Amino acid sequence: MKQVTITGIGSYLPERILTNKDLEKIVETNEEWIFTRTGIKERRIAAEGEMPSDMSVKASEKAMAMAGITAADIDMIVVATITPDMPFPCTAAIVQGKIGAKNAFCFDLEAACSGFIFAMETARNYIATGSVKTALVIGAEKISAITDWTDRGTCIIFGDGAGAVILQESNGSNGNIRSTVMASDGTLGDLLKMPGGGALHPASHKTVDDRLHFLKMTGKEVFKHAVRCMGDVGQKALEKCGLAYEDVDCLIPHQANIRIIEAIAERVKAPPEKVFINLERVGNISAASIPVAMDEALKSGRIKKGDIILAVAFGGGFTWGATVLEWGI
Ligand SMILES: CC(C)(COP(=O)(O)OP(=O)(O)OC[C@H]1O[C@@H](n2cnc3c(N)ncnc32)[C@H](O)[C@@H]1OP(=O)(O)O)[C@@H](O)C(=O)NCCC(=O)NCCS
Repeated sequence: MKQVTITGIGSYLPERILTNKDLEKIVETNEEWIFTRTGIKERRIAAEGEMPSDMSVKASEKAMAMAGITAADIDMIVVATITPDMPFPCTAAIVQGKIGAKNAFCFDLEAACSGFIFAMETARNYIATGSVKTALVIGAEKISAITDWTDRGTCIIFGDGAGAVILQESNGSNGNIRSTVMASDGTLGDLLKMPGGGALHPASHKTVDDRLHFLKMTGKEVFKHAVRCMGDVGQKALEKCGLAYEDVDCLIPHQANIRIIEAIAERVKAPPEKVFINLERVGNISAASIPVAMDEALKSGRIKKGDIILAVAFGGGFTWGATVLEWGI
């Protein structure tokens, strides 16, 4: 099996900022409540015609430039998203068309907020077994498109954006992905879902009237599971590659809620300087959360070549997963 590493990374956030103060005009809430209960001050909202594929293109161009490759070098594109441009064709194929990656095969992967970890592990396997050389892995979301702006339990949390990485075989001195562990529990799917638009509830006047095309969440339950699952899976991923939490230079948790992040950090005894948090400015961007955070951690000097990074995610499904990598750029 070949060792696989990230050779390029990039992210993109839409221009429009929606602050907690702005939300006071939309739902019965207040700035302070949102900040103290979630840690979020503002989030980015994509423009009306700005699609997940457009945000993916912007993030991918930066990742390709860093890796020093052109679109023609890409063998596969995987987009992790719960908000594809449309049910099909897949957003990955739309991205392919937009960047001109004519040699790539493309598919989307849906594992909600864990999607990026699942997609990266999928692509890693293709490279590890030698079936492809270069993969573009993207997490891209326009959660604002499935947000119920009358539901104060969800509309305060989510945001839009995209992050992308280029994966290639490691040359031995540019880092590697050490281990990944993924898990799911389909019996808890009802706690975080969008019921409408699939075969169960195809779009109709009734599904629109019943507000089935919006994200639904039982926040308190999701919270409990998120803390336990992310703490456990991080531990398992570290054990799998013979490391412990003390070896981690930077913990990049899914940016769901500051209280979830603090509970995980406490569980694993990670000091604040080792935990990367950008949630205050971006909210929860679902599958884009980890790659956007990873890119910002790199650009702000919080991670450097040789560091051990642990990324942990949790989302609808339920799905959860963790990746340990040695940073190589
Ligand atoms: C959504 C979340 C912030 C709500 O916080 P909470 O502490 O669980 O709050 P509750 O839902 O129990 O509500 C507590 C009270 O605040 C109220 N409340 C809920 N949302 C509010 C808002 N936006 N503004 C003001 N009050 C609000 C509730 O109505 C409730 O009032 P009551 O006690 O009079 O009934 C929290 O559950 C959460 O972050 N869950 C995990 C979300 C997540 O990470 N999801 C993605 C995982 S991938």
